[in-house]
Amino acid sequence: MESILKIENIAAGYGRVEIVKGISLHVSKDEIVSIIGPNGTGKSTFLKAIFGLVKVFTGNIFFDNEDITGLKPHQIVKRSMCYVPQDNNIFPSLTIKENLDMGAFVRHDDYSKNIEEVYGIFPLLSGFKNKKAGELSGGQQKMLAIGMSLMLKPKLLLLDEPSAGLAPNMVDEMMKKIELINREEKAAILMVEQNAKRALKISNRGYVLSMGKNMYEGTGEELLNNKDIGKLYLGE
Ligand SMILES: Nc1ncnc2c1ncn2[C@@H]1O[C@H](COP(=O)(O)OP(=O)(O)OP(=O)(O)O)[C@@H](O)[C@H]1O
Ligand SMILES: [Mg+2]
Repeated sequence: MESILKIENIAAGYGRVEIVKGISLHVSKDEIVSIIGPNGTGKSTFLKAIFGLVKVFTGNIFFDNEDITGLKPHQIVKRSMCYVPQDNNIFPSLTIKENLDMGAFVRHDDYSKNIEEVYGIFPLLSGFKNKKAGELSGGQQKMLAIGMSLMLKPKLLLLDEPSAGLAPNMVDEMMKKIELINREEKAAILMVEQNAKRALKISNRGYVLSMGKNMYEGTGEELLNNKDIGKLYLGE
């Protein structure tokens, strides 16, 4: 299947400090792709660079066959790519419904059907429409953050550690939701995960990054069965 995202050898970072030191990667329109790797290796910086939040020094980013290198986040969102950061991704003092309205802030059409779709994926949220988002559990807040991004009908979702801090049963639930979104909403997924094994289990492919560079890539199964990766990154 055709690529929705193609990244050619990008370097990126803060000020003049290079954190991402040459990463290439691609995601097909129907794929779930995971990025794993040690702490501080630049995984979050890499996602931010794709979304225009961090300066790209060299290399190119193609989204849906268009070169988007150097575009700002608001320009990238308009092209139907959404980014869900690890933290601070909801408005705690607003209700669930108001948060979903915020997710649709750039839309000028009637998005009520879309809200119902999000409640369909996360039925739990529909029971709490008028509850303040800050009163939800950590896992529910993460689901809401993803729900907000779905208000824009993304072709590609960038997820930074969607299962971080969740209880083990919620991690499974989150992975199931990610599969559901990929299948039903037809959104390609590129996610960074610490729960590497569980992420690779639902991923078509994965990339292992280390010190800002590509180390390994392969299908989810190949990476799960690779002994070196198991020892270094999967806690075996
Ligand atoms: N806003 C920033 N300004 C300057 N340096 C930063 C900034 N954010 C992160 N860094 C540095 O960039 C490096 C990579 O950080 P990054 O958060 O991208 O790693 P990561 O792979 O996502 O780590 P983790 O697994 O802990 O989430 C670190 O050395 C960090 O200190
Ligand atoms: Mg990170």
